[in-house]
Amino acid sequence: MKFDTPATENPIDQLKVVGKPTSRIEGPLKTSGTAPYAYERHDAVPNQAYGFIVGSAIAKGRIASIDLAEAKAAPGVLAIVTAASAGTLGKGDFNTARLLGGPEIQHYHQAIAIVVAESFEQARAAAGLVRVRYTRDKGNFDLASSLDGAIKPPAFFGTEPDSSFGDFDAAFASAPVKLDEHYTTPDHSHAMMEPHASIASWDGDKLTLWTSNQMIAWSVGDVAKTLGIPRENVRLVSPYIGGGFGGKLFVRADAILAALGAKAAGRPVKVALPRPLIANNTTHRPATIQRIRLGATPDGKLTSIGHESWSGDLKGGGPETAVGQTRLLYAAPHRMTAMRLAVLDLPEGNAMRAPGEAPGLMALEIAIDEMAEKLGMDPVAFRILNDTQVDPEKPERKFSQRQLNECLRIGADKFGWASRNPKPGLTRDGRWLVGTGVAAAFRNNLNEKSAARVRLDRAGRVIVETDMTDIGTGSYTIIAQTAAEMLGVPLDRVEVRLGDSLFPVSAGSGGQWGANSSTAGVYAACAKLRTAIAQKLGLDPAKAAFANGKVSAGGKSIALARAAADGEVVAEDMMEYGDLAQTFQQSTFGAHFVEAAVDAATGEIRLRRMLAVCAAGRILNPKAARSQVIGAMTMGAGAALMEELAVDKRFGFFVNHDLAGYEVPVHADIPSQDVIFLDEVDPTTSPMKAKGVGELGICGVAAAVANAVYHATGIRVRNYPVTLDKLI
Ligand code: MOS
Repeated sequence: MKFDTPATENPIDQLKVVGKPTSRIEGPLKTSGTAPYAYERHDAVPNQAYGFIVGSAIAKGRIASIDLAEAKAAPGVLAIVTAASAGTLGKGDFNTARLLGGPEIQHYHQAIAIVVAESFEQARAAAGLVRVRYTRDKGNFDLASSLDGAIKPPAFFGTEPDSSFGDFDAAFASAPVKLDEHYTTPDHSHAMMEPHASIASWDGDKLTLWTSNQMIAWSVGDVAKTLGIPRENVRLVSPYIGGGFGGKLFVRADAILAALGAKAAGRPVKVALPRPLIANNTTHRPATIQRIRLGATPDGKLTSIGHESWSGDLKGGGPETAVGQTRLLYAAPHRMTAMRLAVLDLPEGNAMRAPGEAPGLMALEIAIDEMAEKLGMDPVAFRILNDTQVDPEKPERKFSQRQLNECLRIGADKFGWASRNPKPGLTRDGRWLVGTGVAAAFRNNLNEKSAARVRLDRAGRVIVETDMTDIGTGSYTIIAQTAAEMLGVPLDRVEVRLGDSLFPVSAGSGGQWGANSSTAGVYAACAKLRTAIAQKLGLDPAKAAFANGKVSAGGKSIALARAAADGEVVAEDMMEYGDLAQTFQQSTFGAHFVEAAVDAATGEIRLRRMLAVCAAGRILNPKAARSQVIGAMTMGAGAALMEELAVDKRFGFFVNHDLAGYEVPVHADIPSQDVIFLDEVDPTTSPMKAKGVGELGICGVAAAVANAVYHATGIRVRNYPVTLDKLI
């Protein structure tokens, strides 16, 4: 099915199942510990051996020699694979560094060997006996000192490095009120609960990987390319995923080395990345240095917006696209944005929840707060005044929906913004200085083609199969809701099977495109199934109504299951997109409000209240969407106050590579959180009229926290995380 004109009324609009707050259907399996995650698939294949990955102890240079004798002789060892014994490996499309390093080393903890043994303990012990001598080269690990050599990168996932509109330089130079500041965000780790893990099993030249991966089809392709085998010979199975946040968009070393280890040992091999390997072996959100220049008239109209961002990556890698939202968020006739990329020898950077917008808004939304203060304006009113309903750099393009001002107004009202003392540092509650902050949230909406197969069986059950993944977001549930709505059956008559490359190729989970795109694919397959069912029952497909387990048309009403009396009815289809997303700018919007308290003596920061108001198209499952936003607000609080991969600039690695040193918020850090979804239906996105919300939720949060800390203390921190030492 091709989607190229705005959606009209369709069965989804009945909203009998879709749009209702619905508990996650796989939730009981997860909360009872019975959902089998990749590493726990003891049942998948017999005779599993254990693999342990050895990571490079240098960041840049070469392996001079590896002595495997002791390790090979250790108890239980079945095989050891290094680059020297692995044969020629290719490289996937989505990784920058090779997933098995050697002799050349590209980053710290790059995998250089897998040791396979009968037990996990034996594999780990033997890995400690692998003797490696390195020749270490001097690397470049410091972003701040690398800006001069930074290059203009090619377009990254469709985002051009530069944009300009009007005459920024002249407009900024002559602006009556100006701001010119630098902001920094550190490297971040995804820190998902479930580490990267895989079980690999070969049957002749066919490979099956039970793994934890967000994008099944991308990863089948990259496994095949890396191992040099046809993609038809690769099967990936990933039905349950304990979080990804972008860290599992791509194949990583666990999958490739499990496959190599299994081949060498002649047995299935399971591998989980130990927590201390994750920060340096996998990807991270790259640090940024951002310069923002704003010019305004004294009455608060922005005349010029300039945003430059520098980030680093390995040679051949991409930039953190931190200026993307600045191209679309506020009106101003003169604009420029630019991204520059410094080549660093740190582990490779890549997408983490709302890549680009999340760190970009951490800077931009402080700058907006600072400008409002310079103008003597309320920061909510300043944002509302500079709203735009068209793409500011392509004024002929309208936003399909844009309710930023409504989010700000409703949030301000609900939060009690009006009672705020506009002057910072003056509100006290005993020993606490109390402040409130606001920030806008913005994240683009992307629609990706997505396919599904739907079957009606003799018992009247509906079975949906698609390689879509559920990374904890609720894909199972919204897909079941979609099929239930389309076929007029209760939710418990629908079975959803996900995360297997044997199923039709979906959009996968990434870039907050999963919810709208994958359900739209299921919609297309269900529409086809409705036609097939009606025809089998001798009813006019154009008139057939599906409700209460029955199909009705022309005065006749027949039980749905009758259509499958002589065998299952099956339909498969894909939703594909025309250029509607070019005609209309599709984005999601929100506003975050935060109350923070700062201990006047120690600078300790405690969050007190958080509120998010989101406008993100039709909300398919308000309960799961609320959970997504609350999780994202929590992650944003982490980015504001504690998260930071500390770089050892001498040896080129992230020092705090475990959850003791890489701090993320715990329950005690998080106060009351509230989420409001505006009533929005966007017919330009798909027949579902939905958008994404899981990444919108993190966008702007950290700036709202930083602005609240400023309002509490009068101290402006522009370098994240906002820790107490920066307030003293
Ligand atoms: Mo997302 S960072 O595209 O999983």
